[in-house]
Amino acid sequence: MAKLWAGRTDGATSQIADDFNSSIRFDSRMYRQDIEGSMAHAAMLALKGIISQEDADTLIAGLEQILLDIDSGALPIDMTCEDIHMFVEAVLTQRLGDVGKKLHTARSRNDQVALDVRMYLRKELDEIAALTKELIAAVTDKAEEYKTAIMPGYTHLQRAQPITFGHHLMAYAMMLLRDLERLAGCRKRMNQSPIGCCALAGTTYDTDRYFEAEKLGFDGICLNSLDGVSDRDFCAELMSAISILMMHLSRFSEEIILWSSWEFKFVELSDEYTTGSSIMPQKKNPDMAELVRGKTGRVYGDLMALLTTLKGLPLAYNKDMQEDKEAVFDACDTVKMCLQVFAPMVATMKANCDNMLLAAQKGFINATDLADYLVKKGLPFRSAYKISGQLVALCIRENTVLEKLDLKTYQSYSELFAEDVYEAIDLVACVEKRTSVGGPCEASVQAQIDYVKERLYD
Ligand code: ARG
Repeated sequence: MAKLWAGRTDGATSQIADDFNSSIRFDSRMYRQDIEGSMAHAAMLALKGIISQEDADTLIAGLEQILLDIDSGALPIDMTCEDIHMFVEAVLTQRLGDVGKKLHTARSRNDQVALDVRMYLRKELDEIAALTKELIAAVTDKAEEYKTAIMPGYTHLQRAQPITFGHHLMAYAMMLLRDLERLAGCRKRMNQSPIGCCALAGTTYDTDRYFEAEKLGFDGICLNSLDGVSDRDFCAELMSAISILMMHLSRFSEEIILWSSWEFKFVELSDEYTTGSSIMPQKKNPDMAELVRGKTGRVYGDLMALLTTLKGLPLAYNKDMQEDKEAVFDACDTVKMCLQVFAPMVATMKANCDNMLLAAQKGFINATDLADYLVKKGLPFRSAYKISGQLVALCIRENTVLEKLDLKTYQSYSELFAEDVYEAIDLVACVEKRTSVGGPCEASVQAQIDYVKERLYD
């Protein structure tokens, strides 16, 4: 296709330079936004008397037809074009003749591409947020199902204190809720219209930037024309939010992988979300979780790529900025795929409550409660801590657990021990007594579930 910018030069770049320069392979996915942006632009040009209403109507009808034809497949996108903006304008001019050439008045590809990317990412962001909500709902439902299932809570991957599986899952729901808030904050800053900034210095035409912004669903406009065409913060910010979201999914994945191992046996993933081994018949591999963990690195890479591209760029537009798209599109595609598989994987995951309880019992995770018992009877915490530690050491030597020591043994360590010690170290009681806000007792976990659900459906 002939270059629309031929004039200053004859437009006869080498084939290699053309291929290198072209972005249509990855920006053609923005054709809808490009066309919608152009329709608003044509309407604005007529409103301000820059072109006639008749020309605007012809342009808008032509653009609408191009959109229909691309959607239906009747108009294949010509991959030899430089980018999607050039393609749409070239087809429009081919179909309409000279009227088509009026569309690019008071506009540049610099504000055009900034507009298209913002509109495209706004849609992507909404999809990512909707998928995140679905995942939060799945996690919260699972937490409700297991809100009384005792499990050991860990620090240093050592059994630490008793919690419930529901309590543990709700930690992820909280993280994901913050991800949702981050996406909402990012959307606000993204949703400012750059169209009308033109190449960098605005225009001498009497345009109405607010009209275009409103027509295209923006909350406002970029207030400095250089910034409007140079700003890719919204890409970096979206990728940061996605990176943090992926980090959460990756930590969750890591736990799911551990929990489904035979060493833990805390959960079993549904067959639908696991794979077998081609050689070892006994294997049931948590591939989905592993891939999510793996793809997290890829998304971080996308963020780093863009930040590095931007860091040395003088104002305003530089062709380097064309590199924004592959990175940000890849991050969006990846996180959407991950969320899509993660929600049903969690929803169909089953906990092995017996094994969790067993691990909790074997882990002396009620040793703190044993010490607290003595404190409540008047002993200073440090002394109580020491006695509790000595009793744990005794259990380890004798291969038993605190619940099974007889009262005489307890009393040989401190006279403060009485029959009620067994109730104090009962795991269910240990969890239920942890009534501090945010803690693992059933009422507290239920309050966390209610809090999250409220924010999810409002
Ligand atoms: N394909 C270009 C991009 O993605 C569009 C903007 C081109 N502008 C220019 N002045 N060459 O950034």
